[in-house]
Amino acid sequence: MRYSDLNKAALQAELARVKQDYEALRGHKLNLNLTRGKPETAQLALSNDMPHTLDDGNYMIDGVDARNYGELAGLPSCRKLFAEILACKPEEVILGNNASLQLMYDLIAKAYTHGLKNSVRPWAKEEKLRFLCPFPGYDRHFNVTKSFGMELIPVPLSETGPDMDLVEELVKDPSVKGMWCVPKYSNPDGYVYPLETCRRIAAMKPAAPDFALMWDNAYVIHAFDGDETPFPDMIGLCRAAGNPDLVYEFASTSKVTYAGAGISCIAASVENIQYILGLMTFQTIGPNKVNELMHIRFLKDLDHTLAHMKKHAAIMKPKFDLVCEALEREIDPLEIASWHRPRGGYFVSINLLPGTAKRVVALCKEVGVAMTGAGATYPGGVDPQDTNLRIAPSYPPLGEVRQAMEVFCTCVKLAALEKLLA
Ligand SMILES: Cc1ncc(COP(=O)(O)O)c(C=O)c1O
Repeated sequence: MRYSDLNKAALQAELARVKQDYEALRGHKLNLNLTRGKPETAQLALSNDMPHTLDDGNYMIDGVDARNYGELAGLPSCRKLFAEILACKPEEVILGNNASLQLMYDLIAKAYTHGLKNSVRPWAKEEKLRFLCPFPGYDRHFNVTKSFGMELIPVPLSETGPDMDLVEELVKDPSVKGMWCVPKYSNPDGYVYPLETCRRIAAMKPAAPDFALMWDNAYVIHAFDGDETPFPDMIGLCRAAGNPDLVYEFASTSKVTYAGAGISCIAASVENIQYILGLMTFQTIGPNKVNELMHIRFLKDLDHTLAHMKKHAAIMKPKFDLVCEALEREIDPLEIASWHRPRGGYFVSINLLPGTAKRVVALCKEVGVAMTGAGATYPGGVDPQDTNLRIAPSYPPLGEVRQAMEVFCTCVKLAALEKLLA
């Protein structure tokens, strides 16, 4: 039954029926939450042996005492592990503490105060700063650049990556200083950029000599459906395209070990890494190497890390299956929304009938289901069509995801019917 095929009377009858479903849900006095893109407790527990890797009292690794100062770029064996994960070279990696987001912020802050390696002047001294923001995207990315007063330029993102015709046009403007990308299992759609798109991004010729491609590979090994697909080394692609300093890549173990106590990295050309380390000497004497030591003893190498990720996948997949099956069963036949079934990452992104996203969030809230605010996936927090919502099913237990999806689907129908009858 496609809603668009129904006449007014049939739509009104359907509205009356869906309203009844909705009122029945109100009676359940729910308190559910689909906003939190974080690992559930059972996922955190998968790494509970990690702190015990220090029980032998041996803190030596790579000839270094992990408890002491030093090793600004992080423990060599841990840099090697991240290099294996990102398919780059260990010397292209600097390790950070628990949040890759902090490394991203810090890079932009360094660009602002000191400039990047190829900057003519610090970004703070530029008249205008603009940043490309593929959408739907990650609100925290957009907000980092917004907090430095930059103008956010929306660029549509699809299954094939950012609209590259538009990107190539926009980067001719020297005030365009960079672009945010989540190339694998993008937040929120779960798209994986195809190799051709990665190559095209690597080969672009920005007018700004210090253009920063913020390549956030947060979900590089986070498949939950099937085996991990290999992903290209973006630093190598940029080098091959004659743009060695274009890309700054980020990753972390936030969703591998502990979201609140993992390790992170920035990876870039050796020249960029040397430049960043030069600035970092004024900032710290070294990162938390005891945490790095625990991580390398626990995760060991890429194969072992991928085996660990399979355990996460076993917890995540049933939740994503449940979300997608609910949408396929309840919403698909009505043709009032579209979505992409992700194979990894932490989110499902759904495009509703234009003008109904805010209404769906409000309807859900009224019956006890918290959804991420409409517009959050757009630069500046404004979705001009009011159409996109992000579903985050990882944190609540399966039973709660089921209940929350029942509510969500009912609200999507209700909002669509109201719109069609308006
Ligand atoms: C795309 C993306 N990047 C970064 C992060 C946060 O990473 P971290 O915990 O390493 O700061 C998230 C968290 O949801 C994310 O979705």
